[in-house]
Amino acid sequence: MKAKKGILYGLGVGPGDPELITLKAARVLNVADVVFAAASTKNSYSLALSIAKPHIPDLTPVRMLTFPMTHDKEEKKTAWQAHANTIIEELTQGKKVAFITLGDAMTYSTYGYILKYVQEIAPHFPIVSIPGITSYQAAAACLNTPLVEGEDSLMLISGANGGDRLRECSPKPEAAVFLKAYRNVTDITAAIEETGVYEATVGISNCGHTDQKVIWDIGKLCDQQPDYWTLILAKRKKVHGTPES
Ligand SMILES: C[S@@+](CC[C@H](N)C(=O)[O-])C[C@H]1O[C@@H](n2cnc3c(N)ncnc32)[C@H](O)[C@@H]1O
Repeated sequence: MKAKKGILYGLGVGPGDPELITLKAARVLNVADVVFAAASTKNSYSLALSIAKPHIPDLTPVRMLTFPMTHDKEEKKTAWQAHANTIIEELTQGKKVAFITLGDAMTYSTYGYILKYVQEIAPHFPIVSIPGITSYQAAAACLNTPLVEGEDSLMLISGANGGDRLRECSPKPEAAVFLKAYRNVTDITAAIEETGVYEATVGISNCGHTDQKVIWDIGKLCDQQPDYWTLILAKRKKVHGTPES
């Protein structure tokens, strides 16, 4: 009998609301032989795992892959290559392997590194990437506000280096979203203000979680550094929604 060939599934599990996981991701989690999730070396907690958990059968092994909180590129690369090799060991045994990640699998995601190194080290294994709902899609929905309409453009920006990407951009897009904003909220807020074109700005923390917070006055974000799960949305046109939400 022909040996079973392993397959890797990269799953985005959505931003937090347990109902925002796709049917496809839930189905794959239900049949996977092993599930991997990434966590920081500081704590082994994975938000993605807490979202995916109801869809993982009790007997399915779940393995945490810890990644170092470092800016050292070589250290990061070594960790991701080691994790890819751990996954490849399972694939070599013919297993269906699921790697879960928060939000969408292809948007600022740990899965991107796993994908790259598995493809590089063991290109013969099939890979299926399953998209998830991103944090900023969920945020726009929570505000009942379209991100873009008609001829509008949306710029998705990493806030890891502050607001300079928006400063450099000309003309400014109709809408801009900063992810990874938490450490640099002061500079990001200043960059948005300097453009003079955004009529509406809003911050959202923990969107879709029980402790979700909508911050209508983003100046308030600067008073106290928000937590990691915070994004900032800036729009030329007014954001709908109510200050109470
Ligand atoms: C490494 S990126 C991951 C993005 C994710 N793959 C996605 O599709 O949204 C992490 C950043 O996403 C944003 N984020 C993710 N989930 C969020 C949530 N539930 N509420 C607000 N922001 C969130 C935050 O800006 C956070 O710093």
